[in-house]
Amino acid sequence: MQDKYLDAVILARRTLTKRITEFLIAAADGQPLPMAEAGSHIELRFGGAGDRFLRHYSLIGPLAAGAPREAFWRVAVRREDRARGSAFIHRTFQPGTRLRVSRPINAFRLSRRQPHTLLVAGGIGITPIFAMARSLLTRQEAFSVLYVGVEQAQMAYVGELAAMCGPGLAVFETGRQGMPDLKAVLSAQPADATAYVCGPSGMIDGLIGAGAAIGWAPERIRFEVFNAAHRPEDQAFEVRLKDGRAIPIGAGTTILDALEGAGVETYADCRRGECGLCTTAVLGCDGALDHRDRVYSAQDHARNRQMTICCSRITGRLLELDL
Ligand code: FES
Repeated sequence: MQDKYLDAVILARRTLTKRITEFLIAAADGQPLPMAEAGSHIELRFGGAGDRFLRHYSLIGPLAAGAPREAFWRVAVRREDRARGSAFIHRTFQPGTRLRVSRPINAFRLSRRQPHTLLVAGGIGITPIFAMARSLLTRQEAFSVLYVGVEQAQMAYVGELAAMCGPGLAVFETGRQGMPDLKAVLSAQPADATAYVCGPSGMIDGLIGAGAAIGWAPERIRFEVFNAAHRPEDQAFEVRLKDGRAIPIGAGTTILDALEGAGVETYADCRRGECGLCTTAVLGCDGALDHRDRVYSAQDHARNRQMTICCSRITGRLLELDL
């Protein structure tokens, strides 16, 4: 059986914005890399003995439509504050650095021959969306792109996207313009359009909610969830902080996202239950903790003293955290 992982090497790195760096990755033996469809991602394993880190990154591909296939994979990594994995990559990955990478995995597949496709990216969520835009252009299919970020200076690949998409690209800066009116965005789409969204979970939930509000069938909005943070049966609950504040956690939002949104200081890196950085002590819960990380053992989970707030939830109504 084919090994899931390949030995790989960093070919080059390039700073895109203050916090986003692009890395080109090739097979260590110089052999051609497997083909990757738009929307695919790879797992990177790195960090010395035992491959301490495992991270998923979308494959971007060439930066122009019609460009020849590249002999390397292109990924872009956003450095999170106090993060371990992404900070480790930014700090240590140089041309020649060795790592293990998986073959491409595509859990975010672009359908063919849609009447119109709307691509929506939030921040670093542009990486699979860029590949999709290039693929739709190559296939000469109708599409448009909405790219949302705090400010253009912090958004990767705006120039390349503009060159590729022309007036089909709308860049929205929340720092200047506030949040986009997603209901209006969807309402303005041609009949039978399909939307693909990649970005923070709040944006994905916002687009799904906007679609439901204007009568879009749920399957017309497609999104990628890399991690176990969301399940259809999830219920809303409330988190109580030590200062008495109560923060509502929506069914489609993680505890981490909700706390960040409320201005609570938190720590996180992978946001997928893989690094443990967001681990928080639990002071009380009126139901059961629903642990969804891959960091801790079943015995750790059974103690119920702490949880990874980026992906784990509860089945009750109230959770008290040591924050
Ligand atoms: S941020 Fe990595 S486990 Fe939560």
